[in-house]
Amino acid sequence: MVAVHAFDTFLAERKISVRLDEPLGPYTTMKVGGPADYFVEPRSPDELAAAFLAARECELPVRLLGSGANLLIRDEGVRGVVVRLTHLNRRAGLHVEAGYNFAKLVKETAAEGLGGLECLAGIPAQVGGAIRMNAGGRHGETAAAVKYVDVLTADGDVRRLTRDQVGFRYRGTGLGAAVVLAAGFDLHPADGIRERYEEVLSQKKNSQPLGTHNAGCMFKNPPGGHAGRIIDECGLKGLRVGNAHVSEKHPNFIENDGGATAADILSLVEQIQARAPLPLELEVLVW
Ligand code: EPU
Repeated sequence: MVAVHAFDTFLAERKISVRLDEPLGPYTTMKVGGPADYFVEPRSPDELAAAFLAARECELPVRLLGSGANLLIRDEGVRGVVVRLTHLNRRAGLHVEAGYNFAKLVKETAAEGLGGLECLAGIPAQVGGAIRMNAGGRHGETAAAVKYVDVLTADGDVRRLTRDQVGFRYRGTGLGAAVVLAAGFDLHPADGIRERYEEVLSQKKNSQPLGTHNAGCMFKNPPGGHAGRIIDECGLKGLRVGNAHVSEKHPNFIENDGGATAADILSLVEQIQARAPLPLELEVLVW
């Protein structure tokens, strides 16, 4: 087996910068969790491919971090490599790179009078994360507005997939180990798009604890039900462990009041799952 330090040597030889023991909490909306052994922000798809190749040769796992809006990092942090597509963030019309701010894209296209994404107003994500998780809510999901997705395959090839080939499902895709590089959106001029955008955004502001440190909805909605309602009916609003609590405004959210640990949040998750009358599956990813 190749020595672990070979990974940063390999990257240094290719002038790809890598940070060691980078705290990940600040990169997430929950603001919780330990460091990544290696943290890489490639400046091009070639650098991304090189980082993946190096990681494979060094037998290190690789994870993709988006805007950290649907993610809980454990207190002990993440072994191996975390990649963030900070620099792959350009938009050319409706072709948008994975690191582009998705909420910004939704706002911009609505302002341009283009219909298709306005129902996703206010969802915090990068484009790659929104595709990967098929981000959505009451009014729709990302998949409906996608024309194609460009990916880097596990073999290091760049491929363009049609929407059907992406295998979209509720809060997920069939992309497996492939990395989203960019997506093409299928949007069309329509009336009332700006108004609809504002309406969806204000509904979200009224029903969710925006502006606090949280990871959005913690649990998937079970078939035919709503996790938020179930948690409410169990009387768990306001339940607290350490510096984290179940939101009073929307009980499918857990809020970090400042200084919460991942252990606090996971303890709340376990208590909710133990008391809910049916299985609640985490929507938030835990690293
Ligand atoms: N409810 C309660 N008590 C509460 C809050 C809500 O009983 O304190 C009830 C509501 O009355 C409603 C039901 O729960 O009947 C569902 O609530 P809501 O309409 O807010 O929608 P949701 O199913 O909880 C989904 C998405 C959200 C998305 C919203 C709005 C999931 C798991 N959640 O929430 O997505 O923002 O619709 O479009 O699909 C996320 O994915 O992180 C997320 C926040």
